[in-house]
Amino acid sequence: MKQGIGIIDSGVGGLTVAKEVIRQLPREDIVYFGDTARCPYGPRPYQEIREFSLQMIDFLLLKSIKALVIGCNTAAAVVLAEVSEKLEIPVVGVIDPGARTALKETKTGKIAVIGTKGTIASGAYEKALKRLNPKANVVSLACPTLVPLVESGRSHDPGGAEIVREALAPLAGEEFDTLILGCTHYPLISHFIQETVGPDVRLISSAEEAARELSVVLAYRNLLANGGDVVDTTHHFYTSGDRELFSEIAQQWLGVEVAAERVSLE
Ligand code: DGL
Repeated sequence: MKQGIGIIDSGVGGLTVAKEVIRQLPREDIVYFGDTARCPYGPRPYQEIREFSLQMIDFLLLKSIKALVIGCNTAAAVVLAEVSEKLEIPVVGVIDPGARTALKETKTGKIAVIGTKGTIASGAYEKALKRLNPKANVVSLACPTLVPLVESGRSHDPGGAEIVREALAPLAGEEFDTLILGCTHYPLISHFIQETVGPDVRLISSAEEAARELSVVLAYRNLLANGGDVVDTTHHFYTSGDRELFSEIAQQWLGVEVAAERVSLE
């Protein structure tokens, strides 16, 4: 049986990673779990984020995956080290890949990071950036209103622009040329974010770099799906919440037919 790539997120945010995996590794099957019913994870206590993330991972392990992508910054900040050590399959997070890309792109060394309360409070990006370049100048901001905007399917509502402007207002006096979208939900509203920070700021989505890292790891471990001329894939999407809303957002973002299944983890 062909084994897939497991991707987890608190909701629809990890779809930004799924899209990149489908683009960069078109022969791979994806098994996605979005814990929409318990989203957002961002404001939750550490223990709860850990417990919920491990539940999603256990569910995906039953689907016999060959690699796992923690497509959620909040979950990665909490469980990536623990899970990478425990599992035999390769595990990829989104924080280090995002930090690496930001350092590659910045010209001034001044980088801003936006994310959930949990991710920003963990200091995970700041630590990753400083580990790679101790001279990096980092300013961080938690934006708790943005995930609900995306999860409710309003990523293209005109009212979204105002919500994003308000969320990013504290960055107004700061100088930076690169902005890390430190939450996988944010690429879904990158149009509003770019409009707010202006065209000269480079937005970094860790999804792209995480998929690249996944492809290197799969190649190194000789785990890449092979085939002749035919690309034959089956993706599975599971959500703990409203399957119709999830499928609609997924379909819009991925541009493929999605019929998500509802699974409760409680
Ligand atoms: N998409 C998630 C992240 O990257 C989590 C959003 C949330 O549940 O608060 O952090």
